[in-house]
Amino acid sequence: MPSEFGLPLRPVAGEVAAGADGPARNSAAGEVADAGTSSGIGANLLRIRAQFPALTRTHGDLPYSYLDGPGGTQVPRQAIDAIAEYLGRSNANHEGAFATSEESDAILDEAHAAAADFLGAAGADEVVFGQNMTTLTFSVSRAIGRTLRAGDEVVVTRLDHDANVAPWLALEEERGVVVRWVGIHEEDCTLDLAGLERVLGPRTRLVAVGLASNAVGTINPVHRIVEMAHSVGAWTYVDAVHAAPHVAIDVAALDTDFLVCSPYKFFGPHLGLLYGKRERLEQLASYKVRPAPGLSPGKWETGTLPGESIAGLLGTFSYLEWLGAEFGSGGADPAGTRRARLETAMSVIRATERDLALRALQALSSVPRLKLRGIVDPSRIDERVPTFAFTLAGSTPRQVALELGKRGIAAWDGDYYAYELIRTLGLGESGGMVRVGFVHYNEPDEIERLAQALSEMSESAAPQSPNPS
Ligand SMILES: Cc1ncc(COP(=O)(O)O)c(C=O)c1O
Repeated sequence: MPSEFGLPLRPVAGEVAAGADGPARNSAAGEVADAGTSSGIGANLLRIRAQFPALTRTHGDLPYSYLDGPGGTQVPRQAIDAIAEYLGRSNANHEGAFATSEESDAILDEAHAAAADFLGAAGADEVVFGQNMTTLTFSVSRAIGRTLRAGDEVVVTRLDHDANVAPWLALEEERGVVVRWVGIHEEDCTLDLAGLERVLGPRTRLVAVGLASNAVGTINPVHRIVEMAHSVGAWTYVDAVHAAPHVAIDVAALDTDFLVCSPYKFFGPHLGLLYGKRERLEQLASYKVRPAPGLSPGKWETGTLPGESIAGLLGTFSYLEWLGAEFGSGGADPAGTRRARLETAMSVIRATERDLALRALQALSSVPRLKLRGIVDPSRIDERVPTFAFTLAGSTPRQVALELGKRGIAAWDGDYYAYELIRTLGLGESGGMVRVGFVHYNEPDEIERLAQALSEMSESAAPQSPNPS
């Protein structure tokens, strides 16, 4: 069954595909869901979904449809077990002279090392845990703010989540720092790089930019943006919260000074994760209590860390390693590095999501009176992640989300803190947009179900043509 994009589409509900049981291990990334079953779900996708207890939830006869991934993904049992194991066995505060504290500290150390591998960082001391991305960003922006003088400049974008904007705006008020804005091309919601070029200058101290938009899914050319920022001597602060569940992150290749993400958006517990180049984390003075460590990461990790969430993150990495080993190209080499195994997992995810993204584009384009924002050209699919924001004529975004909710489909509406983008698009006063997001555990059937529901809503909201009689 070829798609209009030339890709083999997986069977949809009711169709039976050949090779129904599928191999236990696939030979190439992207084949995760290709082996169909009579239920319409690939056998491999079933195995993946079986790792996530929440995915067994139903709504009437149908599976509950989690399209709210951009607001937080579901969690595999490996992470849930690790949290329970920590609380049931190793729960203790830091640096005590007794077994549980030593065990807890070993878990924290291992999690720093594993997160460094996930991000491609040089070492565990470049990884800082915190409550969430927003809190970590305010902490770093305040520390950087101490080094800035009135008239120094920071650059922010109109595509970013406000958590990578407001902390820098605060420096305008507090330190007389000048904020320079980078706009977007409204037709495809990509960043105006020529505009960035224009605002960079000798006073630019920092460029804050997102790796992927949490509203419209655009992947920004961050490698190039980092080079542009560094060419004028500015630091970079990259928000990878929305990118992390979808693409492999490599801070070394990006050469960014800082990068932040949130494990609860990539199949982990509620937690924030900051990467900083070692020299940056060391040279900046953090806000901390006096007895806390003077070195990174301790100097940035204020108070007692959420040990159970950090233990849970190790479970998330175990899940990802399993995914890579089972479905990666030739299987991830167990003798290889953890970084390599995690990269394999992310390439499985990327390939699987590419198919979901193409299907979703196709399905959403078929809904009457639906206006999709962002990159909609299938030939540019590699420039986006499968997060889609749209409006439906005749209904407010909240009405659409409510109706979807009644049908067991979780979807966001509003601005999801993509505050500037929604206002730039002129949607601030009309309830923003509906947003749906797909991750590798979503089923093709969910796309069909979404499109069907939206088409019905569109028809019932359509103005009736006057009765000729
Ligand atoms: C792109 C992006 N950046 C930052 C954040 C804020 O993350 P946190 O909730 O960890 O503070 C979010 C949360 O939705 C996000 O999507």
